Amino acid sequence: MTINRQRCSSRLSATLRNFNSSTRTHARGQESLALLAAHIIASPTPLESRILHEKRDKAPNLWSKRERLDRHIIIPVRIALTQSNVEFGYQFLEDVSHPSSSNYGKHWTFKEVVDKFKPSMKTISVVRNWLEDEGISGNRIKLSAGSNWIEFNATVADPSILSVRYYMYEHDISGQPHVACSEYSLPAHIGPHVDFVTPTLHFDAKIKPRNEHKLQTRQALSTVKPGAGHSIGNSNGWKPKLGKVVNFQGIALTLQMCATLMTPNCLRTLYNFPGFRLGQKPSRGSSYGIVEYSTQAYLPSDLDMFFTKFNHPGIGERPILDSIDGGVVQNTNQSHGYNAESDLDLEYAMTLVYPQPVTLYQVGDLYQGASFNNFLDGVDASYCSYEGGDDDLQDGTYPDPYNNSLAYKGPKDCGTYEPTKVISTSYGYNEADLTAPYEIRQCNEYMKLGLMGVTVLYSSGDYDQCIDPATGSYNNGTSGTFNPGFPSTCPYITSVGATQIKTGIDLATLATGTQPEMACETVIHSGGGFSNVFPLPAYQANAVKEWFKNYPPTYTSDTFNNTQITRGFPDISVNGANYVIAVDGQFRLVYGTSASTPTFGSIITLINDGRLSKNKSTVGFINPVLYANPKALNDITEGANPGCGTAGFSATAGWDPVTGLGTPNYPKMLNLFEGLP
Ligand SMILES: *[C@@H]1O[C@H](CO)[C@@H](O)[C@H](O)[C@H]1NC(C)=O
Ligand SMILES: *[C@@H]1O[C@H](CO)[C@@H](O)[C@H](O)[C@H]1NC(C)=O
Ligand SMILES: *[C@@H]1O[C@H](CO)[C@@H](O)[C@H](O)[C@H]1NC(C)=O
Ligand SMILES: *[C@@H]1O[C@H](CO)[C@@H](O)[C@H](O)[C@H]1NC(C)=O
Ligand SMILES: *[C@@H]1O[C@H](CO)[C@@H](O)[C@H](O)[C@H]1NC(C)=O
Ligand SMILES: *[C@@H]1O[C@H](CO)[C@@H](O)[C@H](O)[C@H]1NC(C)=O
Repeated sequence: MTINRQRCSSRLSATLRNFNSSTRTHARGQESLALLAAHIIASPTPLESRILHEKRDKAPNLWSKRERLDRHIIIPVRIALTQSNVEFGYQFLEDVSHPSSSNYGKHWTFKEVVDKFKPSMKTISVVRNWLEDEGISGNRIKLSAGSNWIEFNATVADPSILSVRYYMYEHDISGQPHVACSEYSLPAHIGPHVDFVTPTLHFDAKIKPRNEHKLQTRQALSTVKPGAGHSIGNSNGWKPKLGKVVNFQGIALTLQMCATLMTPNCLRTLYNFPGFRLGQKPSRGSSYGIVEYSTQAYLPSDLDMFFTKFNHPGIGERPILDSIDGGVVQNTNQSHGYNAESDLDLEYAMTLVYPQPVTLYQVGDLYQGASFNNFLDGVDASYCSYEGGDDDLQDGTYPDPYNNSLAYKGPKDCGTYEPTKVISTSYGYNEADLTAPYEIRQCNEYMKLGLMGVTVLYSSGDYDQCIDPATGSYNNGTSGTFNPGFPSTCPYITSVGATQIKTGIDLATLATGTQPEMACETVIHSGGGFSNVFPLPAYQANAVKEWFKNYPPTYTSDTFNNTQITRGFPDISVNGANYVIAVDGQFRLVYGTSASTPTFGSIITLINDGRLSKNKSTVGFINPVLYANPKALNDITEGANPGCGTAGFSATAGWDPVTGLGTPNYPKMLNLFEGLP
């Protein structure tokens, strides 16, 4: 598979640095100025009727309109073209992921994905012909690598293209300049082929209040006003919960202790998967990626402290760093808030899949941070412009527009890295934090990754917040409606919940047939429930129907979405209690679906290794196989996820919205997946 490694051309805020000297007053001396190319004369053509394409009533908060833009300025115009075939995404994915499909495992190449969803030839030629009719000669028009943008340079004076009036805008606090307009129109026959045009209404030069860079509680996150952005790395709600410090002095770890000290060996015993064999080589074609959002970072000394105890051959090993949008592993600031998530994810992933290397996608600079869309842009060049690109109000904007030494001024990453075959992310939003169109756009991208044979895993969240139905805001979790997490509710990912070992269970002397686990009720509860946005996927329909039939919940629509037509989560679960990690020079316990997810990703990576060694494809999107073969998992039938003043949902026989289908039974899962074509 080849991936386009070309970087997107940067957006307007960057090119503004090159202002013609005649506009110095407009730019108020903020940026260094250089002369752009000179005169581009548009041939006059008769104006045809235009239809308003986008309009903004007033500039965003803190942006003030200044002078009309000088007529001779040349601006880089980019037209985002509409995509095709997205409505068939579910069918396409099922075709390569359902165990009874004759095309199982026949994943698409990146090029096939791009070709299937890219704008149609008709869309491209209609827009191109229109531009040529307007006097933009063909050699000035460029089609982007992903075929979703048409780009050309034009002068502001050229009135016939978009019929826009461009103005300089200025940021009230930073003084940063930005070119924009308040509305633009397109010919009637062009509108349906265009998502949007830049530069127009879109203020990609996002400015965030300084105080947002403090660590936020999830409570605080919910109060962030639209326009302030959501840097996922600084959100507390999804971080693993810390427990006590563990002193190993003179303690020999045994399997008897797994109920209170979870270690790599405990996990191998619980789920029956192998550890490193002497002389074992990394398997070709397999790869495993962990996604971390700045300012979260691992400490190299913590990795070695952990490996010394639990993964001796791994001492000195580091993840492969794929830096996206200025992501750096910062070690200047050290605390559990900075290090616990990254340390946990990497210590377990790197140990459980050793000697397979682990890739770290470190996303976002230290100043602005980033969100899931920044990551997705980094691994898929076509996503950068899909449906008009990222949401400037939600996602990190790069090059970072802030004047700060920590701000990353390089170009935005766009298809820079090939996606690894398994991608584990232990961060999430409340589904209610984001708009449905934003979530659907992102969910469709997970569908595309699945088509390419990538397994996308997200933690289901640690149930601790509810929505106050009166105000719509989040409360302390003692009343209100259940609060599903995103992307767990996206049907194209695998959502991972948490279990724990039951009290009194000794893994060393476990009788065969005894289920040692229950839903996690120590420190955290396993996030689970039903989406308010995404429909019930076919692969899950029967499981959800059975659950509603056999265990009808006593709660009503006041508490959760009981329509029975929306996606339930999690899909599966993995132990998430009492994990021993090394963090900031100490061994400590942590809890959460944050721990479960990288462990499950490691197990899927081992299964990929097994299939690859048989010359088969990676497993890709696993949900259709798992729901069709629930016996490959250990059904979890005890425990619950109380919250919002209720007893929550209970783990039951079969799928349930607490532990999903259950925990992995590695030999059965390996056998199942190796048996598929
Ligand atoms: C950027 O910050 C530096 C240092 O604080 C300051 O000297 C400079 O004037 C600032 N530039 C802009 C454009 O605000
Ligand atoms: C527009 O002009 C800039 C500056 O000369 C150039 O770098 C860029 O490639 C041009 N874009 C197109 C689409 O021709
Ligand atoms: C590190 O901490 C200092 C002091 O609290 C703070 O000013 C700085 O922004 C922090 N750096 C990062 C990368 O979070
Ligand atoms: C949670 O909020 C409710 C309602 O405001 C309040 O009565 C209760 O004491 C709070 N509980 C905790 C644990 O903060
Ligand atoms: C429940 O899901 C349905 C179907 O997606 C949706 O129309 C409805 O708005 C959801 N209910 C709530 C309370 O969001
Ligand atoms: C896998 O393919 C390679 C190269 O085509 C071949 O040498 C090898 O024997 C095959 N292995 C299996 C298990 O089929």
